Amino acid sequence: MTALLEVRNLTKSFQGLVAVNDVSFSLEAGRITALIGPNGAGKTTCFNLVAGALSPTAGQVLFEGRAIERNPPEAVCRMGIARTFQIVRPMKDMSVLENAMVGAFSWTTNVKEARSKAYESLERVGLAGKASARTDQLTLPDRKMLEMAKALSTRPKLLLLDEVMAGLRPTEAAGVVGVLRKLAEHGLTILLVEHVMRIVMDVASTVVVLHHGAKIAEGEPSQVVADPAVLESYLGAGFHA
Ligand SMILES: Nc1ncnc2c1ncn2[C@@H]1O[C@H](COP(=O)(O)OP(=O)(O)OP(=O)(O)O)[C@@H](O)[C@H]1O
Ligand SMILES: [Mg+2]
Repeated sequence: MTALLEVRNLTKSFQGLVAVNDVSFSLEAGRITALIGPNGAGKTTCFNLVAGALSPTAGQVLFEGRAIERNPPEAVCRMGIARTFQIVRPMKDMSVLENAMVGAFSWTTNVKEARSKAYESLERVGLAGKASARTDQLTLPDRKMLEMAKALSTRPKLLLLDEVMAGLRPTEAAGVVGVLRKLAEHGLTILLVEHVMRIVMDVASTVVVLHHGAKIAEGEPSQVVADPAVLESYLGAGFHA
């Protein structure tokens, strides 16, 4: 089976600092993969490389078998890769629905079509009931869900989620996990950066671990948390799954 996304020997240097160092992994369609590692490990840089926000110093990003690493973010988005950002910034003067519509304008100029897609995206994340609310009335979990709805409105095949559950209480994070599972069941492929191991163990079928820009482990969550290199560099010797 061809992977939906394949990252091959991906490398990104910033003036001598190698933020991503010869990283390779692939994502099967309809699965949830977690990208983990300590602060500064290169996770967000990896997302930026896949999403076209950065060009790699070396290596390739193949999406549906096609090299895409020299494409700008708008083109990558139109191909079917959407992302959320580590810091959520909804547009304050627009309603929740209008914010979600922004994503749809990546593929249509028809307002009615965009509205209908945005509403459907809000439904998928459980936010349709607040479609006409102003974004400054939203709680943090709802703002995170809106960010996801905006990404879903672009009609992605692959969704990149950067710490979408950061700052949420366990019950709120569990709600997001439920939404992610449903999205994956409907065929969406998800790559998520997540620091809370309990969530990673719960939601991901595969885990890729970065440390100082390099991949140090990859596998099923239960394998990865027992890996000596992962315990030493990230989880700490006292970690018990
Ligand atoms: N545009 C940039 N210019 C220079 N250095 C950068 C740039 N972006 C990232 N870096 C550096 O690259 C390294 C990897 O950063 P990155 O943001 O990818 O880490 P991360 O794994 O997402 O960390 P965190 O868990 O803190 O979000 C860090 O040392 C960071 O300072
Ligand atoms: Mg980051």
